[in-house]
Amino acid sequence: MKFEQRLTRRRMLGASVFVGGLAMLSPGRLALAATTPDPFILRAGKGTAMLRPVPYSPTQVWNYNGTVPGAEIRVRQGDRLRVLAQNGLDDPTTVHWHGIRTPNAMDGVPFLTQDPIAAGQEFLYEFDVLDAGTFWYHPHHRSSEQVGRGLYGPLIVEEVDPIRVDRDLTWMLDDWRMTKNGQISDDFDSRHDAVHGGRVGNAVTINGKVPETMEIRAGERVRLRLVNAANARIFGLDFGDLSPMIIAMDGQPVTPHAPESGVIVLGPAMRIDLVIDMTGKPGDTVSVADVFYKDLEYRLIDLTYASEPLRSTVPDWPIALAPNPLTEPDLAAATRHQIVFNGGMMGQMMMGAGMANMMEQMRDGNMWFINGKAEKGPIKDPLLTLPLGTSHVLEMENRTRWAHPIHFHGHSFRVIARNGQPTKYNEWQDTVMMAPQERVDIAFVADNPGDWMFHCHILEHQSAGMMGVVRVSSAV
Ligand code: C2O
Ligand code: CU
Repeated sequence: MKFEQRLTRRRMLGASVFVGGLAMLSPGRLALAATTPDPFILRAGKGTAMLRPVPYSPTQVWNYNGTVPGAEIRVRQGDRLRVLAQNGLDDPTTVHWHGIRTPNAMDGVPFLTQDPIAAGQEFLYEFDVLDAGTFWYHPHHRSSEQVGRGLYGPLIVEEVDPIRVDRDLTWMLDDWRMTKNGQISDDFDSRHDAVHGGRVGNAVTINGKVPETMEIRAGERVRLRLVNAANARIFGLDFGDLSPMIIAMDGQPVTPHAPESGVIVLGPAMRIDLVIDMTGKPGDTVSVADVFYKDLEYRLIDLTYASEPLRSTVPDWPIALAPNPLTEPDLAAATRHQIVFNGGMMGQMMMGAGMANMMEQMRDGNMWFINGKAEKGPIKDPLLTLPLGTSHVLEMENRTRWAHPIHFHGHSFRVIARNGQPTKYNEWQDTVMMAPQERVDIAFVADNPGDWMFHCHILEHQSAGMMGVVRVSSAV
């Protein structure tokens, strides 16, 4: 994919406006023993968070168990995950386990896979964890507001035989829209955000804090799990003199490789696992910059080398991860489907067949369309019905001027081509970025029965119609 924005590698503009140090960069960790009889309790509620350090005051947020992000739920591949979700909000909610394969009834989509969990009620999520990797959880009910107020957390599934690193870190990136007095702006799902690039904010956090510095050590090898929990912001991270290697995308192992043009691009909901060797020397500082939006580059965080090296040269341990047990699509036998995305502030993007129909739908606040149809849910008619166990290629075409991270529930898919050119790494993803006007082909086996959401993960696009359902039917 070609993003004009990525080409900029301009050095950083001034320091962040926020002052102070960063106490801790790791979210609260929780190891779930596979054998625990009691489920882990995950309670959605209202609270406050010190997104910015003192002397700033706390921000009112919605959170899980009192923290932003929610606890890092860490399990082993093959374990059974058991989480009792409790709703301490005034609103209904659900928990969706983003990117990990679950039975349909555990997918957390209101009105499609379960009733929303009413205020004061609870719901037990329970499933076997098939894939290792970096995943996350968030509500799937009025997501723009619920995620935008702070409801999300990491789900890390450890490999049975993990690669060797000195530190395994998770960075949940978020982007908040704050008012001048440091509270969350309540203009969720505004029409302006809906027809443009979504709710892009003005305060970026790592693990719920506006970051300043993180200490590293010369010779150290870090596995850094990046998760983009923002409603709409796309990140393009430039690690300066360091040479991060991508080892997994959306939780799924990929041939280790350096990012194209040196920048790690992460659309909303996407994850990337990096291996980074700290090749500098004691006393050095490396700035990590977000360079995605042209002329809006900023310094995200400084990595500062401690005075003592960890070792004199970087390690040469292997970094390739073992693949997860996904079924390989049969491309020769696959059924091909055309999927066209339209809408938004457009120029002439919406011209052509079906335009009158789309104009009609826009009266109800629908701004985005998949094959000419906008959906706000509950969704009754599937976009596609696929027989269980069959292979499919979706030939997706973005006929809009905006980028869209397209997410499919219940499955991982291979990204096989962009604009007709085969991809280099044939990567497995569950959320794939489409640049404006780009064509992307994905392939998968419809091997998980049920009704699965297929939607843009810019949450304001999703609520303005950019979603549909793909039915995997055992009865065809
Ligand atoms: Cu991350 Cu349909 O969700
Ligand atoms: Cu979108």
